[in-house]
Amino acid sequence: MTEVVVVKNKAQASRIVSDLLVKSILKNPKLVLGLATGSTPLEVYKMLASSVKKQGIDVSGVRGFALDEYVALPKGHHESYHFVINSTVVQPIGLTPENAHVPSGDASTIQRAGAEYEELIKASGGVDVQILGIGTDGHIGFNEPGSSLASRTRIKTLTEQTRLNNAQFFSSIDEVPSHAITQGIGTILEARHLVLMAFGSAKAKAVANTLEGPVCAFCPASALQLHPHATVFVDQDAATELQNIDYYKWSYENKPSWQEL
Ligand code: GLP
Repeated sequence: MTEVVVVKNKAQASRIVSDLLVKSILKNPKLVLGLATGSTPLEVYKMLASSVKKQGIDVSGVRGFALDEYVALPKGHHESYHFVINSTVVQPIGLTPENAHVPSGDASTIQRAGAEYEELIKASGGVDVQILGIGTDGHIGFNEPGSSLASRTRIKTLTEQTRLNNAQFFSSIDEVPSHAITQGIGTILEARHLVLMAFGSAKAKAVANTLEGPVCAFCPASALQLHPHATVFVDQDAATELQNIDYYKWSYENKPSWQEL
């Protein structure tokens, strides 16, 4: 089932998720982490980096797989996910660079890049904890509305809305690539634990469609309803359109101690 946790703010959710990751790494030093980009998980990565330092946790064996990458944006570009994952995850947390993977957005090899990435994930034993953000249209990774719920890592055309949303990170919308390579919904659903975070009123509709709408390709994140172990963190603003909010709050506040996150 999907557990919904309504938090006071982003900091509270980030603390819970960071603590979960610390616990998971201590339990399994070769943990395979699924990494989302975007602004949503940045605080989790910062908190994790600080806990790793403070507690002297050995992360040399931890593996990481990014969800997606822009097509034809040079790896060294400050908005390429190779660059972003390196500067916000690998360096601050101290992961072994060879253990961190991002799909290749190189246009000349894009036809085989998806299958190669799937093989890499499989060879690692699969993702243990997948961190997810959500687009205002309900996309996860770069699986835009209409993405097959069985899809695998492949190239996707970005919607105008996603390009507009992501234009804030570029100097103009014209610079935002029109295509991306992304893990498919089918790929994401194979991770053992899905942890999605959504903050702010701009995400409220997507969150309601994800949790309480029908499972459908028009809201790709609604595929979480098919997953046996998914946790969704929302702040008050992102939770405003949820009908069952009182139940989610009560369940979390009265959670038995034997029931883990
Ligand atoms: C991009 C990424 C997604 C991310 C989404 C939301 O499209 N590909 O993985 O979840 O943006 O971004 P933000 O967290 O900045 O709202």
